[in-house]
Amino acid sequence: MCGIIGVTGRSGVSRLLIDGLRSLEYRGYDSAGIAVQTEDGLTVLRRAGKLAELDAVVSELEPFGTVGIGHTRWATHGAPTERNAHPVVDGPERVAVIHNGIIENHEVLREELVATGVEFRSDTDTEILAHLVSRELAGGASLGQAVRTTAQRLEGSYAFAAISADHPGVLAVVRCQSPLILGVGDEASYLASDIPALLPHTKRVMSLDDGDVAVLTPGTITVTDVDGVEVERDVRTINWDPVQVQKGGYRHFMMKEIEEQPSAVSATIAQCLSEDAEHIRIPALDALGPRLETIKRITFVACGTSWHAGLAAKFYVENLCGIPVDVDYASEFRYRQMQAGPDHLIVPITQSGETLDTLTAVRQAKAAGSPIIAVVNVAESSADREADASVLTVAGPEIGVASTKAFTTQLVALYMLALDLASRRGALTREQLDERVQPLRRLRFAMEGALRHKEHVRRIAYHFSQARDFLFLGRGVNYPIALEGALKLKEISYIHAEGYPAGEMKHGPIALIDANMPVVVIATPGRVYDKVLANIQEVRSRDGQVIAVCAEGDERVRSQADHVLEVPVVDEDISGLVNVIPLQLLSYYIAERRGCDIDQPRNLAKSVTVE
Ligand code: M6R
Repeated sequence: MCGIIGVTGRSGVSRLLIDGLRSLEYRGYDSAGIAVQTEDGLTVLRRAGKLAELDAVVSELEPFGTVGIGHTRWATHGAPTERNAHPVVDGPERVAVIHNGIIENHEVLREELVATGVEFRSDTDTEILAHLVSRELAGGASLGQAVRTTAQRLEGSYAFAAISADHPGVLAVVRCQSPLILGVGDEASYLASDIPALLPHTKRVMSLDDGDVAVLTPGTITVTDVDGVEVERDVRTINWDPVQVQKGGYRHFMMKEIEEQPSAVSATIAQCLSEDAEHIRIPALDALGPRLETIKRITFVACGTSWHAGLAAKFYVENLCGIPVDVDYASEFRYRQMQAGPDHLIVPITQSGETLDTLTAVRQAKAAGSPIIAVVNVAESSADREADASVLTVAGPEIGVASTKAFTTQLVALYMLALDLASRRGALTREQLDERVQPLRRLRFAMEGALRHKEHVRRIAYHFSQARDFLFLGRGVNYPIALEGALKLKEISYIHAEGYPAGEMKHGPIALIDANMPVVVIATPGRVYDKVLANIQEVRSRDGQVIAVCAEGDERVRSQADHVLEVPVVDEDISGLVNVIPLQLLSYYIAERRGCDIDQPRNLAKSVTVE
């Protein structure tokens, strides 16, 4: 949601800003703009709609300067129009501001400014920032001081950056509970809401704590903390490769990311093994120390796809460790009478590490004394920094809005977390734990095998591309996979789809089934295989069309289903990682056939950083 970029110290800055915004497009937006400090003051260009609209005007005017800020806006306050696009400016147009987040007390501040004669030209909560910074500058403050004083008046979550026509070469930014990362260059400095925008320029990044203000000039970054005291913040080198954020010959990031899953899952497995790669070892569990023994309950909190991974984790932990598990939508958890405390482990699961609902749930649980272990893909993200310890998934940057490789890496990390937990608590012997390593090593080949059926999945997808509704059924560890299959389809193809536990079908959804209803059933070997076959019969008896995900060569399923999506067989516990692949492909090809915008589906943002 909203992408932010800022650069100081590079010539041709307007082109860099456009390229930076393009690499943040995946976050979701509906208008875009840049502001460049030029010889004549500030040049601000904004357009509603896609970046191409802004790019066209920037290419024509090419404002020249070495300092600038850019923004992609996902509308919250005010319609997605040019008038409400960022950067927003103060009255004399000497200050330009970009902002991610929500200023909750903006109405009060707006009234106060209006009472002093300020005229507003947008409907955004952001505009107050430009006027407040401008007022501070007029009183003699430096840009950094002006941003700090403004931030002290704000309630809500935000990251905002400002430039001023009267402060050449300077960018100032403050962060409070919204994503922001700084890029450290030799002769230039950068800010962005996510790493992909920085990767072409530098791999050295700095994270800010909440309340920090950073002042960037070419090649220097000065940080002051919430009390205004100058502080050092760590600079770390990120190991993501710039090619990972390029399409590399694929039409869509989503397909590239689907195909990257075997290697991403292998890398995540390697991360959860001991140095000799023989034993499962999750160092994050060490962080719990003696508290590990006292954990009586675990709650996984997450949103969307990550919540589906949490459901699978419930299956793993309850089966392997015998600890009671809840799985909660973060947006629900945070508003309930929360069950948290020192003997209640909270595990946030988040690809981005910046989903606001998940972060708020973490903060509340932490305040109640719960230990926190995050399962997160982005190192140094807020979730990683705020947890007691993290299990890092190694999906690399995920750009497609529809999560794919982040999900499968979460599944495997959660499975390995459950195994190590079971062993540490005596529910599994060391030998039993080690026996699980080989099947995990073979997993990548099974995932590659599932991908080899791509062409067949495409044919089935094209056959069903005009369906109006879909039902996805699964049981046990494959119930979350059914939910995920349904979510993928609705996200990128806009076809209504529901996921259900297959055994629950008789209690309602069966009423929907007729000859026009494709039903995807996950029917791979496992404890509930025969039960699922019975469910297939129930669908067939009502003329529903069954598309079954089944083991390669499974004649029983083949004889009962209308269509099959075959996959290699793996242990049931890890079968979700393989079974989800044909479902991801099915959604992809249906969306492609329907001409949908696969990587940036309408209304969706990759990283949901507001409530
Ligand atoms: O970054 P997170 O894992 O916290 O994001 C959670 C959800 O917003 C995300 O999984 C969303 O549901 C995806 N669009 C799913 O494809």
